[in-house]
Amino acid sequence: MRDQAEGLRNLVKKQETSSRIIAVTSGKGGVGKTNIAVNLALALRQLDYRVALIDVDLGLANVDIILGVNPPYTLGHVFRGEKTLEEVIVEGPLGVKLLAGGSGVADLANLNGWRLEVFIKSLERLNQEFDFIILDTGAGIHRNVLSFVLATTEVLVVTTPEPTAITDAYGLIKVIHQRNYQTQVRLIVNMARSPNEAEMVAEKLNSVLREYVQWEVEYLGYVLYETQVNKAVAEQSPVLLAYPSSMTSRSIKRIASLVAGENPQVVAMGVKGFFAKVQDFLRI
Ligand SMILES: Nc1ncnc2c1ncn2[C@@H]1O[C@H](COP(=O)(O)OP(=O)(O)OP(=O)(O)O)[C@@H](O)[C@H]1O
Ligand SMILES: [Mg+2]
Repeated sequence: MRDQAEGLRNLVKKQETSSRIIAVTSGKGGVGKTNIAVNLALALRQLDYRVALIDVDLGLANVDIILGVNPPYTLGHVFRGEKTLEEVIVEGPLGVKLLAGGSGVADLANLNGWRLEVFIKSLERLNQEFDFIILDTGAGIHRNVLSFVLATTEVLVVTTPEPTAITDAYGLIKVIHQRNYQTQVRLIVNMARSPNEAEMVAEKLNSVLREYVQWEVEYLGYVLYETQVNKAVAEQSPVLLAYPSSMTSRSIKRIASLVAGENPQVVAMGVKGFFAKVQDFLRI
């Protein structure tokens, strides 16, 4: 085990260019992570970045449904050596690439020996191909979700103004901070009734974080509650494409510009480093 970890570290050290890997996550379920991840990926694509979207929600993988594509294979096929990465990646709208995760992601914990090396090496290509890799995760602090969240240096936590969602966001942020204080955590308030309400949610969360964790997160922006989002989901077409002039589309574009802007606090870690860490966390 030790030798293998050593080998991995060496492989990871060799990486040169790195993709920025951003996990979209939440404490409570159903707060809009998948919608935000999918539309953020599209908005970054509109800014001309090369973007991949990886669905790592083990329970309810549904990025494909919201994005309106139907990938036949998942990352699990790659882990099992049945398919190459290229065979698994499908192209979505605007040229966003989708890598379906689904239940196959759990297989990552069981990769060993040469299979792991082959996988890690194949990730090298992803680093060169993408500027951003957006991860749509499940909700909560279960190990399977946290493994992905803790392995990356950039996390977007989504909450709604609901007290339970704020409380769960606080719990999640606290765990992230305790486990990996170098992670940059930024907050998106979704389904707010007004910009003001969203700001109050961010302030409330930060005041509790300051008091109990001596920390705070950066408030990245809001998305208002809007029926177009539900309509777009029902039509299986991302809101950014189905309703480009909706408030949601404008908010997401603003968030994408902020995400794409200079981000000196964060060191892009690259795909190999990321998956090596995920594997470590899943094993613990
Ligand atoms: N800004 C919004 N306005 C109105 N409805 C929204 C908004 N954002 C998300 N929704 C609705 O909320 C529901 C949940 O959204 P989504 O699937 O993106 O959440 P999630 O956090 O990914 O859920 P899960 O935890 O199950 O993965 C969807 O039906 C979606 O249409
Ligand atoms: Mg989801």
